[in-house]
Amino acid sequence: MKVALIGMGSVGRGVAEMIAKKDLGLTITGIADSKSGLISDRGINIAKVLATKKKTGMCGDSTIPAIDVIKNADYDALIEVTPTNALSGEPATGYIKAALNRKKHVVTSNKGPVALHYKELKALAQKNGAAFRYEATVAGAIPIMHTLEHGLAGNEILALYGVLNGTCNYILNRMADEGLTYAQALMEARELGYAEADPTYDVQGIDAAIKLVILANTIWGNGVKLEDVDRTGIDLLTADALRLAEDEGCTIRLIAEACPRRNLFRVSPRIIEKSHPLVTQGTLNALTLETDMAKEITMIGRGAGSVETASAIIGDLLFIRDCYVQRA
Ligand SMILES: NC(=O)c1ccc[n+]([C@@H]2O[C@H](COP(=O)([O-])OP(=O)(O)OC[C@H]3O[C@@H](n4cnc5c(N)ncnc54)[C@H](OP(=O)(O)O)[C@@H]3O)[C@@H](O)[C@H]2O)c1
Repeated sequence: MKVALIGMGSVGRGVAEMIAKKDLGLTITGIADSKSGLISDRGINIAKVLATKKKTGMCGDSTIPAIDVIKNADYDALIEVTPTNALSGEPATGYIKAALNRKKHVVTSNKGPVALHYKELKALAQKNGAAFRYEATVAGAIPIMHTLEHGLAGNEILALYGVLNGTCNYILNRMADEGLTYAQALMEARELGYAEADPTYDVQGIDAAIKLVILANTIWGNGVKLEDVDRTGIDLLTADALRLAEDEGCTIRLIAEACPRRNLFRVSPRIIEKSHPLVTQGTLNALTLETDMAKEITMIGRGAGSVETASAIIGDLLFIRDCYVQRA
């Protein structure tokens, strides 16, 4: 299957490396970052592009804009891994629409377009007989969408509870384990590359809320928006609050929860027993689904990382290959 890769940051490079390393039957015929772009219908030399990107910051000498790669390259599926803009969803939404309008399948790790334009993009994909998949947008490597779609097919999902932001999980762990203040734990998270220079999205619960919106729309198709999520971050938590929870055999986690029957869509720090499956270490993510037949299912795994996120993207690509491209 031929793929075009737009975005050559941490995730894009992870995807390219895995495609080059593993015999997956995937050929990259178009590639672009913010400044450069290449097209080769016979297949791009990935090792060369990765080396050039490392050395010069560009994919190569060719400066074909990303949108022209999307509109002109010969490919079956677009891999869209540009930065998330949670307010506009651009440039990703425009890229995704351009590919779908060409009847190309799309796989993205970008939360913006999915959280903002889920219904529209799903409808556009359906109209064009294309797949629109976004496993990597929620909880990185954990195969939540595949589980919902296949393993739990026929189940009614009654509610969900999740630890969906690894940065907050790390900070809370360090505050509880070492008695650090919020500011100290945040500084440590920054030094280790877990937190951005501007951590607002993470620590105020916005990132977790966006993922909750994506899950709610996927599961219940209820049109929930970011502003419908009742949201409190961890930035005002004190070390004393964590110590008090510890004294009771509990700890604090930033929990995203949704239960449409109770009209509940919330992200907030919650006191939970230390033995609870959602109490994970480090930057791990976790999600519990409450279902009518399978009852409770909890999945735990890495919520971010170059190769971890590539795992989710490649899972989506191979699903598309097996269910769409090979059957066509
Ligand atoms: N990193 C993770 O672990 C992770 C996990 C799950 C989901 N995600 C999501 O996956 C996406 C990519 O994440 P990342 O960490 O790889 O981001 P990143 O390191 O910032 O890389 C973004 C890439 O997109 C390129 N880009 C920026 N603007 C562009 C434009 N207008 N047109 C074409 N390309 C453009 C950048 O080009 P230059 O190289 O020229 O700057 C860069 O190559 C984001 O939406 C992120 O939220 C990331």
